Amino acid sequence: MPAPAGRSAPNHWLEARCAKAFWSQQETTPHRQLRADTLAWAAPAAGERWLDLGCGSGALSRGLWEYSAGQVAEIVGLDCAAINARAYERLRATLQPPPGSRLRFVTHDFSHGLDIFEDASFDHVISGLSISYAQSWSEQENRWTTAAYDRLLREVWRVLRPGGRFVFSVNVPQPRWWRVAWASLPDAFRSDRPLRFLRRSWRMLQYGRWLKAEARRGRFHYLPAAEVTIRLQTAGFHNVEHRLSYAGQAYIFRAVKGNQPVPLGPTRF
Ligand SMILES: C[S@@+](CC[C@H](N)C(=O)[O-])C[C@H]1O[C@@H](n2cnc3c(N)ncnc32)[C@H](O)[C@@H]1O
Repeated sequence: MPAPAGRSAPNHWLEARCAKAFWSQQETTPHRQLRADTLAWAAPAAGERWLDLGCGSGALSRGLWEYSAGQVAEIVGLDCAAINARAYERLRATLQPPPGSRLRFVTHDFSHGLDIFEDASFDHVISGLSISYAQSWSEQENRWTTAAYDRLLREVWRVLRPGGRFVFSVNVPQPRWWRVAWASLPDAFRSDRPLRFLRRSWRMLQYGRWLKAEARRGRFHYLPAAEVTIRLQTAGFHNVEHRLSYAGQAYIFRAVKGNQPVPLGPTRF
């Protein structure tokens, strides 16, 4: 039976089971490489305020903290799955030096924008494999659109200070999950809990099928790099660059907020 389309389609990202399946991802070699590549481009420094969009259990937030030796001023992890608050509690308890209230988690659905934050609240924004899931259903057109994706880019622009960087990864079009799974196989033997690792990896592959099916419907957005670049520029970013990582299945982008907002108009692809 085909999955329900449109507004009634389930969003598994809100479920604890789905969130937890992705917690083990950070133990894998491709994800470690992706984090290292993303953090190298992010280059967090002392005194900076960072937002981690679609943070999951906080792998990139941890990276920002460790890379800066605990010198960043603040990290806010944002995710729609409330269960990730538990992972952030654990993170706060294990990071050195202890971050206390300088590391926060907020439950929020970025498909509705980022209105919980003031303009220019952050020096920089980071995100790992998440913004592709900004979703918007148009009742008028009876189809999924990219409106929420484009709104999210404009919202990131708004919450950044001028000159701030947006460093993020997104999956390539038609990602080949088996390449990621293959490159992760040896990690099962290195894991403290190999059975849990394999169970979660299996679930991740199942969710991966759902993600690709929804991307084909236009609900989620695994876009070509050239298209992401144009959407970033339309949202007001410049100096846009990208590279491949994650066993060739993700792009990392880096873009800078200019001083002047650009006039917004419809983008056609
Ligand atoms: C593939 S996981 C990546 C997690 C983490 N950034 C990492 O690299 O390990 C995608 C994350 O995006 C979050 N997400 C998906 N849709 C979202 C939305 N509409 N608003 C906020 N977070 C969302 C999911 O809950 C999930 O934690």
